Amino acid sequence: MSRKIRYGGDYNPEQWPEEVWDEDHRLFTRAGIDTLTVGVFSWSLTQPAEDTYDFTVLDRILDRAATEGRQVCLATGTAALPPWLARKYPEVNRTDFEGRRHRYGQRHNFCPSSPAYHRLSTAMAAKLAERYAHHPALLAWHINNEYGGVCYCERCAQAFRDWLRAQYGDSLDALNDAWWTTFWSHRYTDWTEIEPPNALTEHWRGPDHTAFQGLTLDYFRFTTDALLGCFLAEKEAIRSHDPDTPVTTNFMGMFRPLDYHRWAPHLDFASWDSYPPLDAPPTWPALAHDLMRGLKDGAPFWLMEQTPSTTACRDVNPLRRPGELRLATFQAIAHGADAALYFQMRASRGACEKYHGAVIGHAGRDDTRVFREVAELGGELETLGAATLGARTPARTALVFDWDSWWALEISDGPSRLVKYQEVLHAYYRAAREAGADVDVVPQTADLTPYDVVLAPVLHLVKGDLATRLEAVAARGGTVLTTFLSGRGDEHDRAFLTDVPGPLAPLMGVRVDEWDSRQPEFAQPVPELGAQARLVFEIVQLSGAEAVATYGSDFYAGTPAVTRNAFGEGEGWYVATALDQRGVDEVVRRVLVRHDLIGPYAEHPGVETATRVAPDGSRLLFLLNHSPEPAHLIAHTTAMDLLTGERTEKGEPLTLDPLGVAVLRLSRW
Ligand code: GLA
Ligand code: ZN
Repeated sequence: MSRKIRYGGDYNPEQWPEEVWDEDHRLFTRAGIDTLTVGVFSWSLTQPAEDTYDFTVLDRILDRAATEGRQVCLATGTAALPPWLARKYPEVNRTDFEGRRHRYGQRHNFCPSSPAYHRLSTAMAAKLAERYAHHPALLAWHINNEYGGVCYCERCAQAFRDWLRAQYGDSLDALNDAWWTTFWSHRYTDWTEIEPPNALTEHWRGPDHTAFQGLTLDYFRFTTDALLGCFLAEKEAIRSHDPDTPVTTNFMGMFRPLDYHRWAPHLDFASWDSYPPLDAPPTWPALAHDLMRGLKDGAPFWLMEQTPSTTACRDVNPLRRPGELRLATFQAIAHGADAALYFQMRASRGACEKYHGAVIGHAGRDDTRVFREVAELGGELETLGAATLGARTPARTALVFDWDSWWALEISDGPSRLVKYQEVLHAYYRAAREAGADVDVVPQTADLTPYDVVLAPVLHLVKGDLATRLEAVAARGGTVLTTFLSGRGDEHDRAFLTDVPGPLAPLMGVRVDEWDSRQPEFAQPVPELGAQARLVFEIVQLSGAEAVATYGSDFYAGTPAVTRNAFGEGEGWYVATALDQRGVDEVVRRVLVRHDLIGPYAEHPGVETATRVAPDGSRLLFLLNHSPEPAHLIAHTTAMDLLTGERTEKGEPLTLDPLGVAVLRLSRW
């Protein structure tokens, strides 16, 4: 058990001479670095030929870490193949969406169905575990790196057919029914007729345009499971030598290709790499943090990577301004991180990431702004100590995040290709967070009983007993909100043979017979909310609900755009169109108010709040000022700032610096 938040990052000293390691460690000590992720890309070093393993350099890296009192998150290094492997077993090279068999190159380049890859990657994991299971520096296992990518080779086609046979109980009739294959004369009569969906088969205009959603959805699920199979095989190899050390792999937050909810039960703890899109509002990485925290039922996760300064892989790579790294790090902690690690500790001298930010740059200086900020933050984490470790978020609001709905929404023709799942979810999440509500981001299978408010925007597919569980939330007095393009399909994206929104209709008390879609420049006024709507306009008929807001123009002017339905002790809210942020804010605040979930600082737009409850029961409130201006608050309760030791009495002024942070331990609540 650590006494503080783990601090460090990816460290690849095999790339530079050993004299430099002394300097590395000297600087690590200055910056409070205690954790190093090692070996992520070292396969060609540790296995220079099929029958030769060589761990001398890795031994020295781990021994040195142990001597210095640092711990290691040890990677199995199977994300980038050594050249000899690809040459000897060309099957490991992926076949892409266009059907091209790749040759050796890059990383994340292995076919998940390749027997050679399975054999050699698990052998490597086993060798490493055998050698280092009892090493004093070993803290955690890091399998592979950022799993992703799809293969369409013959082996994957065969594996897909086997996967389908298992899914459909060996029944082609069940598969034909699920994929609705009588459409366009596709009834399969033999499993071998089934082809992976790509540019040579069912797709046109790229991966999102498919003739058969059921087939493409199943290929996404198969790919998720195939890569998960690679992870599990390595984990099993590790477990044969090391029964205890926790195992993870670094995820990528809101990453569409893999359904991380299918992976979650197999991780000992969740970890992820945060590289928010350019100009993303702070609620964007916050949503990803909460999604990652939700993978393990709210247990703390690791921030496995973030840049201390700048990325390199984008066309334009802005620098983190003074204070931004600190703010982003405390934001991760506020949302549940127990570790804050960087990519990378020292910059690579060559190849495509040589300009990627690093704690230590090419010149090896410790008097740079970035090093100073990293070191100061290291000092603050030392001060914070164990206060936040193992803390939980006591959220009463849930946001349902469903990869199947994401996929189905974005691979369907009509009504609009411009509706993006993440953007709609983010708008609702942002509204709740900026109103001061803590939010758990949960899978559609989650236990919904702890929540007063369940937000389920663009819940395109409604599966299993979800509709019943949502009804139960409302029946006992909670509020459920869903939106346009929800309740449209079952697990195979077949339409329900009932009124839209399908199984959600009784809870929502509405019926939708038709929908309009317009270019993004067109804005439909929604006067009651002082807002505008775009993209999709469902035309709602009330069947029990009441109108909260209406469309302001066109032949459906005056008909409901937002509705509320009394259901049991609670309510079902339906938002029939893509409201702008102002409209979403207004609707979500009306919902939150009913449950007394508006936070004490909701009127300060730049100030993010997040609550965590530590294992000893103490309640922590993070205040994060995302604004470049100071924030002047009035303390809503008496509290002590764990970073400064200063106490503020209830009703006293509480000022946050520009980009400032306070971690308050509340006296009463
Ligand atoms: C990812 C990878 C790292 C590195 C960084 C650069 O997160 O895991 O190996 O490539 O991106 O941003
Ligand atoms: Zn393949």
